[in-house]
Amino acid sequence: MSQKYIYLGTNTKMYKTIGDTMSYLQRLHELTADLANSPLRLFVIPSYTSLDRAGIYLKGSHILLGAQNMCWEKEGQFTGEISPVMLKETGVSVVEIGHSERRHIFAETDEQEEKKVKAAIACGFTALLCIGETKREKEYGISDEILSVQLKKALYGLKPEDARKVQVAYEPVWAIGVNGVPAAADYVLMRHRAIRSVLCALFGNKAGNGVPLLYGGSVNKDNAVELTKLPDVDGLFIGRSAWDAEAFNNIIRQVMI
Ligand code: PGA
Repeated sequence: MSQKYIYLGTNTKMYKTIGDTMSYLQRLHELTADLANSPLRLFVIPSYTSLDRAGIYLKGSHILLGAQNMCWEKEGQFTGEISPVMLKETGVSVVEIGHSERRHIFAETDEQEEKKVKAAIACGFTALLCIGETKREKEYGISDEILSVQLKKALYGLKPEDARKVQVAYEPVWAIGVNGVPAAADYVLMRHRAIRSVLCALFGNKAGNGVPLLYGGSVNKDNAVELTKLPDVDGLFIGRSAWDAEAFNNIIRQVMI
């Protein structure tokens, strides 16, 4: 691993009411309290409606709070969007940008992700940029090209010092969700290596190697340890397998040994 930290986080997508989120966070907090001063960097990205209550509860805690999306403008005529200023007041520190479901269901483009990354950094958030190739792109043998384009566009114009505010989650589209097929470790290894080399080309070796690079897509209790042991894998971004606090804690314990 190129980082001294291990990043483990979950996005609860469009699941969990405010009540569900609060019970989940309270349990996860209890279960992981002893890891507060460990190299674990733990984050939870719940629904927008939960953010305010979650932010109050998590203030000063070892669990960082994230948002699933963000508009690039601070305010304006953008019905249905959420402003960085509004996220800031809830205590969010991480903003997820370009999740596969945003790109593929809601047709977000690399150009929009670029604007969101820049806005997130300018507003003092960590931008968690999600990238990944589709099944078809994998079959064409162009995964690394696709990942490179997504990175170069979304991170365009950033300086090496901005890289400190960027994290990247590699999530192959075909590996995500109930119909997803977990990626094999050697496949993840190759993609992470390719992503790392693009980050180093963009930011220079020092800053490029410092960008936390997470893997996501059907991560579960059986593949989590193998994946985190891979070079250039600094952590995991987990969906379904982390939505129960006990189950997430079990994965955390296995990985942190
Ligand atoms: P999954 O989701 O772990 O349920 O496949 C991952 C994600 O969408 O980030």
